[in-house]
Amino acid sequence: MNINIHKSSPKKKGCILLPFFEDEVDHQLIATHAGESSELDFNGGFKQKLTLYPVARNKVLLLGLGKRNKSNQAADAFRNLAFKKHKRFGDRLIVLMDHLPEDLLIEAGIGLQMAQYKIGAYKTDQDKASGFFAAKYPVHVVHTSKDATSLFEEGVAIGETRNQMMRLVDMPADRKTPAYLGKYAQQSGKKHGFKVKIHNKSALKKLGCEAILAVGRGSEQPPVMIEMEYKPKGLKSKKPKLGLAGKGITFDTGGLSIKGSNNMHYMKSDMGGAAAVIGAMELASKLKLNIHVVGIVCASENSVDALSIRPGDIIGSYSGKSIEIIDTDAEGRLVLADGLAYLKKKHQPEIMVDLATLTGSCVRTFGYACGGLFSNDDDLANRLMKAGQKVRERVWRLPIWDDYSGDIHSDVADVRNFSGKPINGAIAAAKFLEVFTNEHPSWAHLDIAGVAFGSSEYTKMKAATGYGPRLLLNFMRSIS
Ligand code: BES
Ligand code: ZN
Ligand code: ZN
Repeated sequence: MNINIHKSSPKKKGCILLPFFEDEVDHQLIATHAGESSELDFNGGFKQKLTLYPVARNKVLLLGLGKRNKSNQAADAFRNLAFKKHKRFGDRLIVLMDHLPEDLLIEAGIGLQMAQYKIGAYKTDQDKASGFFAAKYPVHVVHTSKDATSLFEEGVAIGETRNQMMRLVDMPADRKTPAYLGKYAQQSGKKHGFKVKIHNKSALKKLGCEAILAVGRGSEQPPVMIEMEYKPKGLKSKKPKLGLAGKGITFDTGGLSIKGSNNMHYMKSDMGGAAAVIGAMELASKLKLNIHVVGIVCASENSVDALSIRPGDIIGSYSGKSIEIIDTDAEGRLVLADGLAYLKKKHQPEIMVDLATLTGSCVRTFGYACGGLFSNDDDLANRLMKAGQKVRERVWRLPIWDDYSGDIHSDVADVRNFSGKPINGAIAAAKFLEVFTNEHPSWAHLDIAGVAFGSSEYTKMKAATGYGPRLLLNFMRSIS
C-alpha cells in the first residue's frame, strides 16, 4: 500500500470506498458520491458489500462494518473486502472515513494490510497465489482527525507484523527450523530496534537449559533460545516491566509418544506462541512504546529418533528441578519450563506472560473462540481479558487451584509432565508451568492452541490467524 492521508476527498479519479456501521447508513453521503441512493439493498451489516456504478463518476463500493458496539471486528470487514473485491478497486482506492470514529482508521489499516497476505508463497505460478493487491497500490484515506496519519499507519504496522507472523506460522517446518526463527528475530530486531541474542545448543548446555535440550535431542535441527529486549530511549529501568515467553516448537510429531498422522501436518503451527512474542517485540519497537520488555522464545523441533527422550526418562531443567517424562507429546511445557525459569532468574520482570499452543484440551474446552488464560494474579488476569476483548483476540480464565496439584506429582522426580488422565489437560499444563515461574507473584499463561491457527475464509485449509501481537500490544499499552 502506498498510503496517502487527506482531510477532504482528493480530486483524483479512483474507486471510492464508503464504510458504514450497521443501520447507520448515511444515504445523503452516498448520494453525494453516487447520486440517488434511497432504494439500496444495503444496511451496513458485517462484511456486506455493494458496488455502485454512477454514470460518469467514480465507482463507489459500500462496505458494512457491522454493529457499532462491535467495531473491534471492523478490520475483518476491510480485509474481506480488499481480499475479495480488489479487482474492482482499479488504479486507486479512496477510503472516505470522516463520518466514522477515528479509531476505525486503525481497523482499516490492519484490514487493508492483511489483505496483502500471500498464503500461496510457494506456488510456482504466483498469479494463482491468492487474492492479493500489490504492495505499491495507492490508497487515499480521508479523515479530518489530526491523528489520522498516525492511526492509520499504526493499523498498517500491526497488519504488517501480523502478516509476517502468519508467514512464519504457515511456513513448513523443513524451512522453518529453530535457527530460522532466530534469524528472523535477529533481522527484525535490527530493522525495528530491539536487541536479540541467540543461545545455540552449546550455549544452552552452558546455561543448563536441559529441558529445551531434551526436547531437541531427537531432531537434526538443534534447538535455540532467542532472547530479545526492547528498552525505550530515556527510560531508566534496570528490570523490565514485562517478560514474555513463547513456545516455539517448529514441528510437533509428539516424539516417541507419536501423534496420529491425521492432521499432523498442522503441527508446523506449534510455534504460534513464539510468533506472538516476536510480533509483540516488533510492535513495541515499531510503535515506540514506553515500556521495557524482554521476550524469550524457546525454539525446538519435537521429533522421533533413537536419541529422542523416552516416556519414563527423567530430565533436568534450568531451574534445577527434575522432570519425569510421561508423554513426550507434552513437550511445550518442557521448553517453556526453561524459558520461564530463565526469564525470572535473569531478568526479574515485574510481570511474566507466556503464550503457547499448549494443549488439545484447551481447544476442546473453548473451540476457536478464545484462548485459555491462567494466572495467579487477578489484576493481571483482568487486564489481559480486557485487552483481548478490546481487539477481539479474547482470552477466558480457568482456575489453577491447588486441587490440581496432584496432576503433576511424580513419585520419582520433582514433577511429571502429564497426569496420564484424559481430564483437565489445559489446567494441568498450567500447573506444570507454574512450578517453573518460581513463585513469581504476577504471572499469566495463555494457551492459544485453538486461536493461533484455524479455518479462515481466505483459505480452504486451516491457516495462521495472526493472533497475539495485537492483544499483547494493547496489553503493553495498558501497563506502560
Ligand atoms: N502442540 C500440542 C497441542 C495442540 C493440539 C496444539 C492441537 C494445537 C492443536 C501439544 O504439544 C500436545 O501435543 N499436547 C498434548 C498434551 C498431552 C500429551 C498431555 C495434548 O494436548 O493432547
Ligand atoms: Zn506435543
Ligand atoms: Zn506441541
